[in-house]
Amino acid sequence: MQRITTEALAKQFIDEQIAALKEQIGDSKVLLALSGGVDSSVTAALLIKAIGKNLVCVHVNHGLLRKGESEQVIKVFRDQLGAELIYVDAVDRFLDKLAGVSDPEQKRHIIGKEFIDVFAEEAAKLDGIKFLGQGTIYPDILESKDGIKAHHNVGGLPPELNFELVEPVKLLYKDEVRIVGTALGLPDSMVYRQPFPGPGLGVRCTGAITRDRLEALREADAILREEFAANGLADKVWQYFTIVPDYKSTGIKDGKRTYDWPVIIRAVNTRDAVTATVPELPFALLQHIVARITSEVPGVNRVLWDLTPKPTATIEWE
Ligand code: XMP
Repeated sequence: MQRITTEALAKQFIDEQIAALKEQIGDSKVLLALSGGVDSSVTAALLIKAIGKNLVCVHVNHGLLRKGESEQVIKVFRDQLGAELIYVDAVDRFLDKLAGVSDPEQKRHIIGKEFIDVFAEEAAKLDGIKFLGQGTIYPDILESKDGIKAHHNVGGLPPELNFELVEPVKLLYKDEVRIVGTALGLPDSMVYRQPFPGPGLGVRCTGAITRDRLEALREADAILREEFAANGLADKVWQYFTIVPDYKSTGIKDGKRTYDWPVIIRAVNTRDAVTATVPELPFALLQHIVARITSEVPGVNRVLWDLTPKPTATIEWE
């Protein structure tokens, strides 16, 4: 297959896919879990063009998304593209299940299982769904085949759902998916979004997640993203985020002793996430970010910068 390198080629791919999707799906309905990530967003946008309201998108807010993320999904898909979008506020459900759980793998397991349960419950409420749309891309298939990782888009479905799969971008690489997304009219902030793990902020609020620390994490992360965007770093650094660990340290504010959380800044460059390096960041910008986080985020009195490459550290802290 010819690689998609230009907008013209993307438009051709889109036209071909729309025809193929219409043929495959007919008058049936397709259900799609829409996280707001590039792959599911491009899949949804293609399906909307092909079958309109017969695509039913489900966006599950598990409470571990970044600031503004659910709002953007609703704005782009429901308001701008006219999608049939079911928004599920599952925040309490996830956070209650995670309360007191400190083991990272157990947290991942709970988040993954709960997500499938919520999605299956929503599917059970709907009539006439025959297909499941998935944003599987080519590297997911390669990695699953090689046993490198069990990708959530490949074979991770509850078998009782019994849907046929619709995977319109499964032969594309990430850069191609992005070109197609732009040609479909999706905003850059969605198409060029940095990778964000399925368990979301859950693995960045280390140890047992509490709502107040999660909120501090969300605010600190929003400040970091805002500053990276304002300083031209958003498309130069592969992944950047904050972590709020589950311990406190002593500080001083307005002449009074504080005992609050630190925020850790993590920013890495990598080709494939197997190894990663830490890029140099302008010191004045780091100081500015420290000043903003310590003054704007309640419960935080200290900011650290993680300088460790992978190996020996992983990109995420959990
Ligand atoms: P690590 O921490 O292993 O991360 O160096 C490598 C890349 O994978 C992402 N990551 C995940 N993505 N579910 C995901 O969908 C996960 O549980 C998960 N853990 C790590 C991480 O953000 C980085 O891009």
